[in-house]
Amino acid sequence: MTPYEIIAKKRDGHTCSPEEINWLINAYTEGALPDYQMAAWLMAAFIRGLNDEEKHAITRAMLHSGIVADLSDIPGIKVDKHSTGGVGDKVSIILAPVVAAAGVPVPMISGRGLGHTGGTLDKLESIPGFKTDYDFENYRRIIRETGVCLIGQTKEIAPADKKIYALRDVTATVESIPLISASIMSKKLAEGIDALVLDVKCGSGAFMKEPERAEELARSLIGIGEAAGKTTVAYMTNMDEPLGRKVGNWLEIEECIDALNGNGPADLMEVTHHLCGAMIWLGGKARDAEEGRAISREMIHSGKAMKKFLEIVEAQQGNTEFIRHPERYPKARYQREVTATATGWVNAIDTMQIGIAGVELGAGRLKQEDTLDMKAGLIIHKKIGDKVQSGEKLATLLADNEARLDKAAPRVQNAYTIRDETVEPPTLILKYLDKNT
Ligand code: URA
Repeated sequence: MTPYEIIAKKRDGHTCSPEEINWLINAYTEGALPDYQMAAWLMAAFIRGLNDEEKHAITRAMLHSGIVADLSDIPGIKVDKHSTGGVGDKVSIILAPVVAAAGVPVPMISGRGLGHTGGTLDKLESIPGFKTDYDFENYRRIIRETGVCLIGQTKEIAPADKKIYALRDVTATVESIPLISASIMSKKLAEGIDALVLDVKCGSGAFMKEPERAEELARSLIGIGEAAGKTTVAYMTNMDEPLGRKVGNWLEIEECIDALNGNGPADLMEVTHHLCGAMIWLGGKARDAEEGRAISREMIHSGKAMKKFLEIVEAQQGNTEFIRHPERYPKARYQREVTATATGWVNAIDTMQIGIAGVELGAGRLKQEDTLDMKAGLIIHKKIGDKVQSGEKLATLLADNEARLDKAAPRVQNAYTIRDETVEPPTLILKYLDKNT
């Protein structure tokens, strides 16, 4: 078959064979297929959809476009977590040391900020010296020595996804459940995991705004993981407001330090303990997820998780002085308070707008080549259900550039809906899903 015929087949709503998909992905990765033909096929796949066989074929092709880590020489059941992306979602940075301290090895390949959502790698790199670009040999060494390693997608890991993702990003073909599933799972399956816990975000700050779409994505991801022989479970969690109280790279590390010292905000800790609990259970260190959650809490109360975090930062060449003394970190040059214009209760927060404000402040990228302002971001004072008086602080914005504050402040103001009626804070853990549910 020619590329033209494979594109036409998908365009007309037919099913592409695993051989055709494999050929397409390999040819594109090797540079033998031009962007315009790959983009045309992706758009056809976006509109027509992919059936299970096609979805598994594209995942396998992307997974095997690079190295698949073999961590079988490292003792223990290796478990990772993946979030579909949110605002203030710093869970991985707390979870990795908690789970590793409980004796479950965590091989973790994380991403950078994407659109309005933050990225674990960017947050970790706000710790001076912290390195995330290890090759596979060093990745294995650090997991063996520390029980955890947090790296980014290298050239060796699912290179097909890296190239295709960049193309999808500029051709409006990101929000397709089969393409997202293949993209996420090709990277996760390359890490060398035995089991995976997914945090599928749902709400105004998530890529999936409706619970039905989030559940469809969760089931699709579970299907791929289980078909690859990896136990895969998912929590659907609420993203109708930022998680915790800080948004921005160093600000989120600060909040993680507080969390690891036992002073984390309740919503952040609830999501973290659920995900940790499932990982500790799947890693064979608890009888069930509930016992896993108790162990997770104990790892924080005993100080073992903080000790592990310091070990990780040291192993990945970060400066631990700022973890021990976060108050010594340089401060943002400018700060601006956003205040309430009405008295009442916070009924809603458009969390995507908060994420975009974070990007405007310099915590994320508008263009791929943008450099980040690691100190930039927001401190959220009022969340859904809180009572506010007119003039009271809703959020504090921080940045090194004053013009950025001028731009972001009205966006944050408009993101808040304050009404004269009370509302309950959102339910955080919406649903648990696995292959049997
Ligand atoms: N994250 C990914 O890794 N891939 C997608 O397609 C979307 C989110």
